[in-house]
Amino acid sequence: MGDQAKLSAGGADFEYPILKGSVGPDVVDIRKLYAQTGKFTFDPGFTSTASCESALTYIDGDEGVLLHRGYPIGQLAEKSSFMETSYLLLNGELPSKDELTTFENTITRHTMLHEQLATFYRGFRRDAHPMAIMCGVVGALSAFYHDSTDIADPEHRKISSHRLIAKMPTIAAMAYKYSVGQPFVYPDNSLSYTGNFLRMTFGVPAEEYEVIPAIEKAMDRIFILHADHEQNASTSTVRLAGSSGANPFACIAAGIACLWGPAHGGANEAALNMLKEIGTPDRIPHYIERAKDKNDPFRLMGFGHRVYKNYDPRATVMQSTLREVFDALKVTDPLFETALRLEELALSDPYFVEKKLFPNVDFYSGIILSAIGFPTTMFTVLFALARTVGWVAQWNEMISDPGQKIGRPRQLYTGPTQRDYLAIDKR
Ligand code: SDX
Repeated sequence: MGDQAKLSAGGADFEYPILKGSVGPDVVDIRKLYAQTGKFTFDPGFTSTASCESALTYIDGDEGVLLHRGYPIGQLAEKSSFMETSYLLLNGELPSKDELTTFENTITRHTMLHEQLATFYRGFRRDAHPMAIMCGVVGALSAFYHDSTDIADPEHRKISSHRLIAKMPTIAAMAYKYSVGQPFVYPDNSLSYTGNFLRMTFGVPAEEYEVIPAIEKAMDRIFILHADHEQNASTSTVRLAGSSGANPFACIAAGIACLWGPAHGGANEAALNMLKEIGTPDRIPHYIERAKDKNDPFRLMGFGHRVYKNYDPRATVMQSTLREVFDALKVTDPLFETALRLEELALSDPYFVEKKLFPNVDFYSGIILSAIGFPTTMFTVLFALARTVGWVAQWNEMISDPGQKIGRPRQLYTGPTQRDYLAIDKR
């Protein structure tokens, strides 16, 4: 018998098995707790709750460690590609040369959208937020791909996973083109996944578009940094939606909706807007005081994390990538100096030190994406594009788990106890 966790409740003693993973905190298996004690656990925000078993991504928040199938994010960002990392997340191992070539060819040949979907865009206002368009168009994919929504069929799951990974760049680029009134640019199968995305976004029919290798590499690395991140809010949304048997397109649309929030994936857009509002370094102390003020809802966007209580390893890579992009484009941005100074002042302030609030993946990404030419409204779209592989990998892992069941949390009820209806003339 392994270690047991002991609980005394209602005058009785109970024991629950402690389960061990390959690394990280053990878990107390409380699946029988309600049946045995008649009590629920209470954990709003799931700060102490493991919702599932997973072999995809491991995060050590205290050490600032992020592993995808065991490989450190810093090594993948430096040595891998987004397509190779996507294969790794989906299949569990790094691909051979032939496996990678086959995977890339498969994804490449799913990049086109059904032509009817182009019409779908025209139903939106030109100034619609691209995330609103993404939610709508990705959800609508289930109306076009009936041939791959039988989630019990591994082949259907594989095809719909490939379709989602392949079509997100096309959908994202089309959302941008629609917002600026330019014609949609069709995929070019001779380009890499990321090069094709850059061309669909910034290319125009009137002239050839040349992919800048340094920008292609930086963008690809940014996609790697956003690929997956354990059971974050949007991934948990995808898992919960998928647990009902909903089709993968609808589940990913739900994940996109959740990612949009400023506390989550919307933080990259919010962080750049915050830096623009701060403007010059001399105004930073005022904003740091606001962030510390309990009566002020203002927070330093791009700072803090539920899991990382040390530096987010993705932010480290993001900062070095920023310098590479500035060098490649021979540009600079005064907001970068403001961001560096904000980080320096915040990390020397006891409030941020005691609460272990460090820059996260969203703090620098906006400055890079802005330098490459994306408007702030596209930042979370890019996050969703990259996170799609993580969402589909997590969804596949859940659906193929034989013990999988619908997610259905309970509650602590604090409303009125039973009472009888009162006729209106007696109220
Ligand atoms: C992402 O989960 C993931 O893995 C997400 C993600 C992924 O890859 O999927 O990593 C992507 O979402 C990154 C996080 C992006 N969000 C932001 O940058 C928004 C700003 N950050 C905060 O909103 C906040 O830090 C969260 C939402 C990220 C985390 O919130 P928690 O874990 O619920 O922590 P908390 O709100 O309880 O904060 C702890 C304390 C609080 O003070 P007290 O109530 O204890 O006095 O720290 C304070 C908070 O007020 N605090 C901040 C702060 N973040 C937390 N104070 C000022 N500025 C901040 N940014």
